[in-house]
Amino acid sequence: MKKSLGAQTLVQPVPVWIIGTYDEAGRPNIMTAAWAGICCSQPPCVSVSLRKATYTYGNIVARKCFTVNVPSAEQAKAADYLGMVSGRDTDKFAGAGLTPVKSELVDAPWVREFPMVIECSLIHSLEIGLHTLFVGRIMDVKADEEVLDGQGHPDMERVSPVVYSPGARTYYRVGQLIGPAFSIGKDL
Ligand SMILES: Cc1cc2nc3c(=O)[nH]c(=O)nc-3n(C[C@H](O)[C@H](O)[C@H](O)COP(=O)(O)O)c2cc1C
Repeated sequence: MKKSLGAQTLVQPVPVWIIGTYDEAGRPNIMTAAWAGICCSQPPCVSVSLRKATYTYGNIVARKCFTVNVPSAEQAKAADYLGMVSGRDTDKFAGAGLTPVKSELVDAPWVREFPMVIECSLIHSLEIGLHTLFVGRIMDVKADEEVLDGQGHPDMERVSPVVYSPGARTYYRVGQLIGPAFSIGKDL
């Protein structure tokens, strides 16, 4: 028997992404977002849903750009901090000991210390309710060379991204490789 848990945001897992923006004065800010994911292959796009109350919301509306930074499991503490403090009154880069890098492609900063960054240009906004969904067109993905596999793709074990479990409100690292996609199902 399955127990009904009600209409809740209990999808597992969701990413732990760090959204980089500039405010109107040009100050770099970063915030944690878990209501996010890939939403189109062509053009390549990501979505991230933010509450209007966040400082980042106004920054994206004003600058029409953002970056998605992927922290590794070792950086989970910083990710948690970036989701509890607002850039409205705090320099979170300094607070977390992180370095802002000016993107050459979009009007937003990225985080030097995290293994991967996705530079995005805003192409859609959708007010859903508490959250507004922002769709960003991926202009480039940058990754530290040490996290790339032999084919030049980000290696899941080397990036070691943080994933989040809504409900329990806990962070996890990803587990073991199961096998190749579009392949292991061919046996059936
Ligand atoms: C794990 C985690 C996930 C979060 N996901 C989101 C999210 O998807 N959308 C959102 O609006 N806030 C989210 N938050 C809360 C914001 O990160 C938080 O309100 C932050 O202080 C906003 O920063 P800012 O005011 O500098 O933009 C999350 C926080 C944590 C710890």
